[in-house]
Amino acid sequence: MFLSGTMEVNNEGMLKIGGVTAEELRDKYGTPLLVFDEKLILKKIKLYKKAVSSYPGPSQIIYASKAFLCQGLAALINQTGLALDIVSGGELYRARKGGFPPDKMFFHGNNKLPEELKEAIQAGVAVFVIDNAQEARLLAELARGFKKQLFCQLRVTPGIAARTHDYIKTGQKTSKFGVGIETGQAEELALWIENEEFLNLQGIHSHIGSQIYDSRPFRELIWTLLQFLLDLRRHHGLILKDVNLGGGIGSPQTAQDSRVDIISLVAEVAEELASTCRREGYPYPRLLLEPGRSIVGEAGTTLYTVGSIKEVNNSKNYLAVDGGMSDNIRPALYDAVYEGFLANRCREKPEIRAAVVGKCCESGDVLIEETELPRPRPGDILAVPATGAYSYSMASNYNGITRSAVVIVKAGKAEPLIARETRKDLIRLDRIPSRFQQL
Ligand SMILES: Cc1ncc(COP(=O)(O)O)c(C=O)c1O
Repeated sequence: MFLSGTMEVNNEGMLKIGGVTAEELRDKYGTPLLVFDEKLILKKIKLYKKAVSSYPGPSQIIYASKAFLCQGLAALINQTGLALDIVSGGELYRARKGGFPPDKMFFHGNNKLPEELKEAIQAGVAVFVIDNAQEARLLAELARGFKKQLFCQLRVTPGIAARTHDYIKTGQKTSKFGVGIETGQAEELALWIENEEFLNLQGIHSHIGSQIYDSRPFRELIWTLLQFLLDLRRHHGLILKDVNLGGGIGSPQTAQDSRVDIISLVAEVAEELASTCRREGYPYPRLLLEPGRSIVGEAGTTLYTVGSIKEVNNSKNYLAVDGGMSDNIRPALYDAVYEGFLANRCREKPEIRAAVVGKCCESGDVLIEETELPRPRPGDILAVPATGAYSYSMASNYNGITRSAVVIVKAGKAEPLIARETRKDLIRLDRIPSRFQQL
Protein backbone atom coordinates (compact mmCIF):
# COMPACT_ATOMS: atom_id res chain seq x y z
CA MET A 1 0.00 0.00 0.00
CA PHE A 2 1.46 3.30 -1.14
CA LEU A 3 1.11 5.73 1.77
CA SER A 4 3.00 8.99 1.52
CA GLY A 5 2.98 12.35 3.27
CA THR A 6 0.34 12.48 5.99
CA MET A 7 -1.55 9.38 4.77
CA GLU A 8 -2.22 6.88 7.56
CA VAL A 9 -4.63 4.07 8.40
CA ASN A 10 -6.70 4.30 11.60
CA ASN A 11 -7.70 1.42 13.86
CA GLU A 12 -10.87 0.79 11.84
CA GLY A 13 -8.80 0.27 8.71
CA MET A 14 -9.86 3.62 7.25
CA LEU A 15 -7.46 5.78 5.25
CA LYS A 16 -6.83 9.27 6.60
CA ILE A 17 -5.12 12.06 4.69
CA GLY A 18 -4.11 15.20 6.55
CA GLY A 19 -6.07 13.89 9.52
CA VAL A 20 -9.35 13.55 7.57
CA THR A 21 -10.86 10.13 6.86
CA ALA A 22 -11.65 9.00 3.33
CA GLU A 23 -15.24 8.44 4.48
CA GLU A 24 -15.62 12.05 5.70
CA LEU A 25 -14.14 13.32 2.45
CA ARG A 26 -16.47 11.14 0.39
CA ASP A 27 -19.54 12.10 2.43
CA LYS A 28 -18.84 15.82 2.26
CA TYR A 29 -17.48 16.23 -1.28
CA GLY A 30 -18.58 13.12 -3.20
CA THR A 31 -16.40 11.10 -5.57
CA PRO A 32 -14.33 11.10 -7.71
CA LEU A 33 -12.42 13.46 -5.49
CA LEU A 34 -8.84 14.63 -5.82
CA VAL A 35 -7.38 15.22 -2.36
CA PHE A 36 -4.17 17.23 -1.95
CA ASP A 37 -1.98 16.90 1.10
CA GLU A 38 -0.80 20.46 1.79
CA LYS A 39 2.00 19.41 4.11
CA LEU A 40 3.53 17.18 1.46
CA ILE A 41 3.42 19.90 -1.23
CA LEU A 42 5.18 22.29 1.14
CA LYS A 43 7.72 19.65 2.12
CA LYS A 44 8.68 19.04 -1.51
CA ILE A 45 9.07 22.77 -2.11
CA LYS A 46 11.29 23.05 0.96
CA LEU A 47 13.47 20.20 -0.33
CA TYR A 48 13.99 21.97 -3.66
CA LYS A 49 14.84 25.25 -1.97
CA LYS A 50 17.29 23.56 0.35
CA ALA A 51 18.82 21.58 -2.51
CA VAL A 52 19.71 24.63 -4.62
CA SER A 53 21.12 26.49 -1.66
CA SER A 54 24.41 24.59 -2.16
CA TYR A 55 24.86 26.22 -5.58
CA PRO A 56 27.32 29.13 -5.35
CA GLY A 57 25.46 31.31 -7.89
CA PRO A 58 21.89 32.61 -7.89
CA SER A 59 19.03 30.16 -8.34
CA GLN A 60 15.28 30.03 -8.81
CA ILE A 61 12.78 27.18 -8.52
CA ILE A 62 9.83 27.56 -10.86
CA TYR A 63 6.70 25.46 -10.30
CA ALA A 64 5.48 23.98 -13.63
CA SER A 65 1.81 24.84 -13.33
CA LYS A 66 0.79 22.46 -16.14
CA ALA A 67 1.05 19.65 -13.55
CA PHE A 68 -1.89 21.16 -11.62
CA LEU A 69 -3.12 24.71 -11.32
CA CYS A 70 -6.05 26.47 -9.73
CA GLN A 71 -6.30 29.82 -8.02
CA GLY A 72 -5.83 28.36 -4.53
CA LEU A 73 -2.69 26.49 -5.52
CA ALA A 74 -1.31 29.58 -7.29
CA ALA A 75 -1.81 31.50 -4.02
CA LEU A 76 -0.09 28.76 -2.00
CA ILE A 77 2.85 28.54 -4.40
CA ASN A 78 3.22 32.32 -4.29
CA GLN A 79 3.53 32.20 -0.50
CA THR A 80 6.50 29.85 -0.82
CA GLY A 81 8.52 32.21 -3.01
CA LEU A 82 8.60 29.92 -6.04
CA ALA A 83 8.17 31.35 -9.53
CA LEU A 84 5.61 29.93 -11.97
CA ASP A 85 5.89 28.30 -15.41
CA ILE A 86 2.85 29.04 -17.57
CA VAL A 87 2.10 27.81 -21.09
CA SER A 88 -0.96 29.74 -22.19
CA GLY A 89 -3.08 32.82 -21.70
CA GLY A 90 -5.43 30.57 -19.73
CA GLU A 91 -2.76 29.63 -17.21
CA LEU A 92 -1.70 33.28 -17.02
CA TYR A 93 -5.29 34.32 -16.31
CA ARG A 94 -5.91 31.64 -13.70
CA ALA A 95 -2.66 32.27 -11.86
CA ARG A 96 -3.21 36.04 -11.82
CA LYS A 97 -6.73 35.53 -10.48
CA GLY A 98 -5.11 33.52 -7.70
CA GLY A 99 -2.95 36.55 -6.91
CA PHE A 100 0.25 35.24 -8.50
CA PRO A 101 2.38 38.18 -9.67
CA PRO A 102 3.22 38.08 -13.42
CA ASP A 103 6.72 39.35 -12.72
CA LYS A 104 7.45 35.91 -11.24
CA MET A 105 6.12 34.01 -14.28
CA PHE A 106 7.99 32.28 -17.09
CA PHE A 107 6.03 31.98 -20.32
CA HIS A 108 6.65 28.70 -22.19
CA GLY A 109 5.09 27.00 -25.20
CA ASN A 110 5.87 26.06 -28.78
CA ASN A 111 3.02 28.08 -30.29
CA LYS A 112 2.25 31.08 -28.17
CA LEU A 113 -0.54 32.96 -29.89
CA PRO A 114 -0.15 36.66 -30.70
CA GLU A 115 -3.01 37.54 -28.31
CA GLU A 116 -1.40 35.47 -25.56
CA LEU A 117 1.95 37.19 -26.07
CA LYS A 118 0.30 40.61 -25.99
CA GLU A 119 -1.55 39.71 -22.80
CA ALA A 120 1.68 38.51 -21.20
CA ILE A 121 3.61 41.63 -22.25
CA GLN A 122 0.89 43.89 -20.88
CA ALA A 123 0.75 41.91 -17.65
CA GLY A 124 4.52 42.22 -17.22
CA VAL A 125 5.50 38.54 -17.35
CA ALA A 126 9.09 38.10 -16.14
CA VAL A 127 10.63 35.89 -18.84
CA PHE A 128 9.55 34.72 -22.30
CA VAL A 129 11.01 31.32 -23.14
CA ILE A 130 11.33 31.60 -26.92
CA ASP A 131 10.73 28.33 -28.73
CA ASN A 132 11.46 29.12 -32.38
CA ALA A 133 12.46 31.78 -34.91
CA GLN A 134 8.92 32.70 -35.86
CA GLU A 135 8.00 33.34 -32.25
CA ALA A 136 11.16 35.43 -31.81
CA ARG A 137 10.16 37.64 -34.76
CA LEU A 138 6.63 38.02 -33.47
CA LEU A 139 7.80 38.84 -29.94
CA ALA A 140 10.32 41.39 -31.24
CA GLU A 141 7.61 43.10 -33.28
CA LEU A 142 5.24 43.20 -30.31
CA ALA A 143 7.97 44.45 -27.97
CA ARG A 144 8.76 47.27 -30.42
CA GLY A 145 5.06 48.15 -30.54
CA PHE A 146 4.84 48.27 -26.76
CA LYS A 147 8.30 49.89 -26.48
CA LYS A 148 9.01 47.42 -23.71
CA GLN A 149 12.24 45.55 -22.95
CA LEU A 150 11.43 41.83 -22.68
CA PHE A 151 13.62 39.35 -20.87
CA CYS A 152 13.97 36.07 -22.80
CA GLN A 153 15.44 32.61 -22.60
CA LEU A 154 15.96 30.52 -25.72
CA ARG A 155 14.67 26.95 -25.59
CA VAL A 156 17.20 24.62 -27.18
CA THR A 157 17.02 20.94 -28.07
CA PRO A 158 20.22 19.40 -26.79
CA GLY A 159 19.85 16.02 -28.52
CA ILE A 160 19.45 14.17 -25.24
CA ALA A 161 16.57 11.76 -24.85
CA ALA A 162 15.56 10.87 -21.30
CA ARG A 163 14.81 7.15 -20.88
CA THR A 164 11.08 7.55 -20.57
CA HIS A 165 7.84 7.17 -22.55
CA ASP A 166 7.98 8.77 -26.02
CA TYR A 167 5.18 11.19 -25.12
CA ILE A 168 7.11 12.66 -22.20
CA LYS A 169 10.48 12.91 -23.98
CA THR A 170 11.26 16.41 -25.15
CA GLY A 171 15.03 16.83 -25.48
CA GLN A 172 15.66 14.63 -28.53
CA LYS A 173 16.85 16.28 -31.76
CA THR A 174 13.49 15.73 -33.47
CA SER A 175 11.42 17.22 -30.65
CA LYS A 176 8.68 19.71 -31.53
CA PHE A 177 10.07 21.97 -28.82
CA GLY A 178 13.00 24.35 -29.15
CA VAL A 179 15.76 24.91 -31.68
CA GLY A 180 18.64 22.52 -32.30
CA ILE A 181 22.12 23.18 -31.00
CA GLU A 182 23.73 20.74 -33.40
CA THR A 183 22.12 22.24 -36.50
CA GLY A 184 23.41 25.72 -35.68
CA GLN A 185 19.85 27.06 -35.45
CA ALA A 186 20.18 27.79 -31.75
CA GLU A 187 23.34 29.87 -32.29
CA GLU A 188 21.80 31.78 -35.17
CA LEU A 189 18.62 32.54 -33.22
CA ALA A 190 20.50 33.52 -30.05
CA LEU A 191 22.46 36.11 -32.04
CA TRP A 192 19.34 37.35 -33.75
CA ILE A 193 17.59 37.86 -30.41
CA GLU A 194 20.68 39.52 -28.94
CA ASN A 195 20.65 42.09 -31.74
CA GLU A 196 17.00 42.98 -31.24
CA GLU A 197 16.56 46.32 -29.53
CA PHE A 198 13.67 45.28 -27.28
CA LEU A 199 14.60 41.66 -26.60
CA ASN A 200 17.05 40.97 -23.83
CA LEU A 201 18.47 37.44 -24.05
CA GLN A 202 19.03 36.26 -20.49
CA GLY A 203 19.88 32.64 -21.08
CA ILE A 204 18.97 29.25 -22.38
CA HIS A 205 16.35 26.70 -21.45
CA SER A 206 15.99 23.00 -22.02
CA HIS A 207 13.59 20.35 -20.73
CA ILE A 208 14.65 16.85 -21.65
CA GLY A 209 11.65 14.84 -20.48
CA SER A 210 9.92 13.59 -17.40
CA GLN A 211 10.19 10.85 -14.79
CA ILE A 212 13.98 11.09 -14.55
CA TYR A 213 15.33 9.28 -11.50
CA ASP A 214 19.05 10.07 -11.49
CA SER A 215 21.33 13.00 -12.19
CA ARG A 216 23.07 11.48 -15.23
CA PRO A 217 20.79 12.97 -17.97
CA PHE A 218 20.96 16.37 -16.26
CA ARG A 219 24.75 16.20 -16.04
CA GLU A 220 24.87 15.33 -19.72
CA LEU A 221 22.53 18.25 -20.39
CA ILE A 222 24.74 20.67 -18.45
CA TRP A 223 27.75 19.57 -20.42
CA THR A 224 25.92 20.14 -23.74
CA LEU A 225 24.48 23.51 -22.67
CA LEU A 226 27.81 24.71 -21.35
CA GLN A 227 29.53 23.80 -24.63
CA PHE A 228 26.92 25.92 -26.37
CA LEU A 229 27.43 28.84 -23.97
CA LEU A 230 31.21 28.58 -24.30
CA ASP A 231 30.88 28.66 -28.11
CA LEU A 232 28.73 31.77 -27.90
CA ARG A 233 31.36 33.42 -25.71
CA ARG A 234 34.30 32.22 -27.82
CA HIS A 235 32.85 33.18 -31.21
CA HIS A 236 30.66 36.15 -30.34
CA GLY A 237 31.77 37.42 -26.94
CA LEU A 238 28.27 36.70 -25.64
CA ILE A 239 27.88 35.68 -21.98
CA LEU A 240 24.42 34.57 -20.85
CA LYS A 241 23.15 34.74 -17.28
CA ASP A 242 20.51 31.98 -17.04
CA VAL A 243 20.70 28.21 -17.38
CA ASN A 244 17.23 26.74 -17.09
CA LEU A 245 17.31 22.95 -16.89
CA GLY A 246 13.51 22.45 -17.03
CA GLY A 247 11.67 19.96 -14.89
CA GLY A 248 11.36 16.22 -15.14
CA ILE A 249 12.54 14.91 -11.79
CA GLY A 250 10.77 11.62 -11.16
CA SER A 251 7.92 11.15 -8.75
CA PRO A 252 6.84 7.70 -7.54
CA GLN A 253 3.34 6.45 -8.37
CA THR A 254 3.43 3.07 -6.65
CA ALA A 255 5.10 1.61 -3.57
CA GLN A 256 7.52 -0.23 -5.90
CA ASP A 257 8.74 2.88 -7.74
CA SER A 258 12.14 4.30 -6.85
CA ARG A 259 12.12 7.35 -4.62
CA VAL A 260 14.16 10.31 -5.73
CA ASP A 261 16.26 12.01 -3.10
CA ILE A 262 15.57 15.54 -4.34
CA ILE A 263 18.27 17.09 -2.17
CA SER A 264 21.08 14.87 -3.39
CA LEU A 265 19.97 14.77 -7.05
CA VAL A 266 19.64 18.56 -7.28
CA ALA A 267 22.86 19.07 -5.31
CA GLU A 268 24.69 16.84 -7.81
CA VAL A 269 23.22 18.82 -10.69
CA ALA A 270 24.15 22.13 -9.02
CA GLU A 271 27.69 20.92 -8.35
CA GLU A 272 28.08 19.77 -11.96
CA LEU A 273 27.06 23.22 -13.21
CA ALA A 274 29.26 25.02 -10.69
CA SER A 275 32.35 22.88 -11.31
CA THR A 276 31.99 23.08 -15.10
CA CYS A 277 31.76 26.87 -14.86
CA ARG A 278 34.80 27.04 -12.54
CA ARG A 279 36.80 24.84 -14.90
CA GLU A 280 35.91 26.97 -17.91
CA GLY A 281 36.16 30.31 -16.12
CA TYR A 282 32.50 31.02 -16.92
CA PRO A 283 30.62 33.25 -14.43
CA TYR A 284 28.12 31.20 -12.43
CA PRO A 285 24.81 31.55 -14.26
CA ARG A 286 21.51 31.64 -12.42
CA LEU A 287 20.39 28.01 -12.07
CA LEU A 288 16.71 27.49 -12.78
CA LEU A 289 14.67 24.29 -12.32
CA GLU A 290 11.01 23.78 -13.24
CA PRO A 291 9.61 20.83 -11.28
CA GLY A 292 5.94 19.97 -11.69
CA ARG A 293 5.08 16.38 -10.87
CA SER A 294 7.72 16.04 -8.16
CA ILE A 295 5.96 18.82 -6.24
CA VAL A 296 2.30 17.86 -6.57
CA GLY A 297 2.26 14.27 -7.93
CA GLU A 298 2.66 12.30 -4.71
CA ALA A 299 0.60 14.82 -2.75
CA GLY A 300 -2.61 14.03 -4.66
CA THR A 301 -4.86 11.00 -4.05
CA THR A 302 -8.03 10.27 -6.00
CA LEU A 303 -10.94 8.73 -4.14
CA TYR A 304 -13.53 6.83 -6.18
CA THR A 305 -16.68 4.89 -5.28
CA VAL A 306 -16.70 1.28 -6.38
CA GLY A 307 -19.62 0.44 -8.68
CA SER A 308 -20.01 -2.66 -10.78
CA ILE A 309 -17.80 -5.65 -10.14
CA LYS A 310 -17.67 -8.55 -12.54
CA GLU A 311 -15.80 -11.68 -13.39
CA VAL A 312 -15.21 -12.65 -17.00
CA ASN A 313 -14.59 -16.27 -18.06
CA ASN A 314 -13.68 -17.28 -14.51
CA SER A 315 -10.35 -15.59 -15.11
CA LYS A 316 -10.51 -11.83 -15.09
CA ASN A 317 -12.11 -9.54 -12.52
CA TYR A 318 -13.17 -6.01 -13.30
CA LEU A 319 -13.89 -3.40 -10.70
CA ALA A 320 -15.46 -0.25 -12.15
CA VAL A 321 -15.26 3.13 -10.46
CA ASP A 322 -17.27 6.32 -10.91
CA GLY A 323 -14.52 8.12 -12.85
CA GLY A 324 -11.75 6.89 -15.13
CA MET A 325 -9.96 8.35 -18.12
CA SER A 326 -12.12 11.46 -17.76
CA ASP A 327 -10.29 12.36 -14.53
CA ASN A 328 -6.98 10.60 -15.20
CA ILE A 329 -6.02 9.99 -18.81
CA ARG A 330 -2.40 9.16 -18.05
CA PRO A 331 -2.67 5.33 -17.98
CA ALA A 332 -4.44 5.42 -21.38
CA LEU A 333 -2.23 8.15 -22.82
CA TYR A 334 1.22 6.94 -21.85
CA ASP A 335 0.90 3.77 -19.85
CA ALA A 336 1.27 5.44 -16.46
CA VAL A 337 1.10 2.83 -13.71
CA TYR A 338 -0.75 3.44 -10.44
CA GLU A 339 -1.86 1.27 -7.58
CA GLY A 340 -5.16 1.27 -5.76
CA PHE A 341 -6.56 0.02 -2.48
CA LEU A 342 -9.86 0.02 -0.65
CA ALA A 343 -9.58 3.10 1.52
CA ASN A 344 -12.35 1.94 3.89
CA ARG A 345 -10.94 -1.58 4.34
CA CYS A 346 -7.18 -1.01 4.51
CA ARG A 347 -6.53 -3.70 7.10
CA GLU A 348 -8.26 -6.54 5.24
CA LYS A 349 -6.24 -9.19 3.41
CA PRO A 350 -6.23 -9.22 -0.40
CA GLU A 351 -8.45 -11.97 -1.85
CA ILE A 352 -8.77 -11.22 -5.54
CA ARG A 353 -6.86 -9.74 -8.44
CA ALA A 354 -8.79 -7.19 -10.43
CA ALA A 355 -8.38 -4.58 -13.12
CA VAL A 356 -9.64 -1.17 -12.06
CA VAL A 357 -11.55 0.38 -14.93
CA GLY A 358 -13.46 3.60 -15.39
CA LYS A 359 -17.00 4.22 -16.60
CA CYS A 360 -16.06 5.67 -20.00
CA CYS A 361 -17.02 3.96 -23.25
CA GLU A 362 -13.48 2.99 -24.21
CA SER A 363 -11.81 -0.37 -23.71
CA GLY A 364 -8.66 1.60 -22.99
CA ASP A 365 -10.30 3.21 -19.97
CA VAL A 366 -8.24 1.14 -17.56
CA LEU A 367 -6.84 2.96 -14.53
CA ILE A 368 -4.92 -0.01 -13.12
CA GLU A 369 -4.14 -3.15 -15.14
CA GLU A 370 -4.16 -5.41 -12.12
CA THR A 371 -4.21 -4.96 -8.38
CA GLU A 372 -4.83 -7.21 -5.37
CA LEU A 373 -7.78 -6.30 -3.18
CA PRO A 374 -10.11 -7.69 -0.53
CA ARG A 375 -13.27 -8.86 -2.32
CA PRO A 376 -14.73 -5.44 -3.26
CA ARG A 377 -18.32 -4.40 -2.61
CA PRO A 378 -20.28 -1.69 -4.38
CA GLY A 379 -19.97 1.48 -2.31
CA ASP A 380 -16.41 0.79 -1.16
CA ILE A 381 -13.99 3.70 -1.53
CA LEU A 382 -11.08 3.03 -3.86
CA ALA A 383 -8.03 5.23 -3.32
CA VAL A 384 -5.49 5.77 -6.09
CA PRO A 385 -2.49 7.57 -4.63
CA ALA A 386 0.02 9.84 -6.41
CA THR A 387 -2.46 11.29 -8.88
CA GLY A 388 -1.74 14.96 -8.17
CA ALA A 389 0.08 15.72 -11.41
CA TYR A 390 -1.35 15.84 -14.94
CA SER A 391 -4.64 14.24 -13.90
CA TYR A 392 -7.05 17.09 -13.19
CA SER A 393 -5.13 19.34 -15.58
CA MET A 394 -5.87 16.89 -18.42
CA ALA A 395 -9.41 16.01 -17.30
CA SER A 396 -12.27 16.03 -19.79
CA ASN A 397 -16.05 15.77 -19.97
CA TYR A 398 -15.91 12.64 -22.11
CA ASN A 399 -19.23 10.79 -21.96
CA GLY A 400 -20.78 13.78 -20.24
CA ILE A 401 -18.94 13.06 -17.03
CA THR A 402 -18.56 16.19 -14.92
CA ARG A 403 -15.13 17.06 -13.59
CA SER A 404 -14.39 15.99 -10.04
CA ALA A 405 -13.97 18.27 -7.06
CA VAL A 406 -10.51 19.02 -5.65
CA VAL A 407 -9.82 19.62 -1.97
CA ILE A 408 -6.74 20.31 0.11
CA VAL A 409 -6.32 18.81 3.56
CA LYS A 410 -4.23 19.82 6.54
CA ALA A 411 -4.39 19.15 10.28
CA GLY A 412 -7.79 17.48 10.25
CA LYS A 413 -9.43 20.04 7.97
CA ALA A 414 -10.42 19.77 4.30
CA GLU A 415 -11.07 22.83 2.18
CA PRO A 416 -12.21 23.01 -1.43
CA LEU A 417 -9.79 24.11 -4.15
CA ILE A 418 -12.13 23.40 -7.06
CA ALA A 419 -15.85 22.71 -6.78
CA ARG A 420 -17.37 19.71 -8.52
CA GLU A 421 -18.66 20.53 -11.99
CA THR A 422 -22.41 20.51 -12.33
CA ARG A 423 -24.76 19.44 -15.11
CA LYS A 424 -25.37 23.15 -15.73
CA ASP A 425 -21.64 23.66 -16.28
CA LEU A 426 -21.78 20.85 -18.80
CA ILE A 427 -24.23 22.67 -21.06
CA ARG A 428 -23.17 26.23 -20.23
CA LEU A 429 -21.53 26.72 -23.62
CA ASP A 430 -24.05 24.76 -25.71
CA ARG A 431 -26.09 26.75 -28.21
CA ILE A 432 -29.16 25.51 -30.11
CA PRO A 433 -29.56 27.10 -33.57
CA SER A 434 -33.09 28.49 -33.74
CA ARG A 435 -34.00 26.49 -36.85
CA PHE A 436 -33.54 23.28 -34.85
CA GLN A 437 -35.95 24.51 -32.22
CA GLN A 438 -38.81 25.08 -34.73
CA LEU A 439 -39.17 21.36 -35.39
C1 LIG B 1 9.18 23.09 -20.25
C2 LIG B 1 8.75 22.23 -19.15
N1 LIG B 1 9.17 22.52 -17.90
C3 LIG B 1 8.79 21.77 -16.85
C4 LIG B 1 7.97 20.68 -17.01
C5 LIG B 1 7.56 19.89 -15.81
O1 LIG B 1 7.96 18.59 -15.87
P1 LIG B 1 7.69 17.61 -14.62
O2 LIG B 1 6.28 17.77 -14.24
O3 LIG B 1 8.01 16.26 -15.13
O4 LIG B 1 8.62 18.07 -13.52
C6 LIG B 1 7.52 20.33 -18.29
C7 LIG B 1 6.64 19.17 -18.48
O5 LIG B 1 6.17 18.83 -19.51
C8 LIG B 1 7.93 21.13 -19.39
O6 LIG B 1 7.52 20.85 -20.62
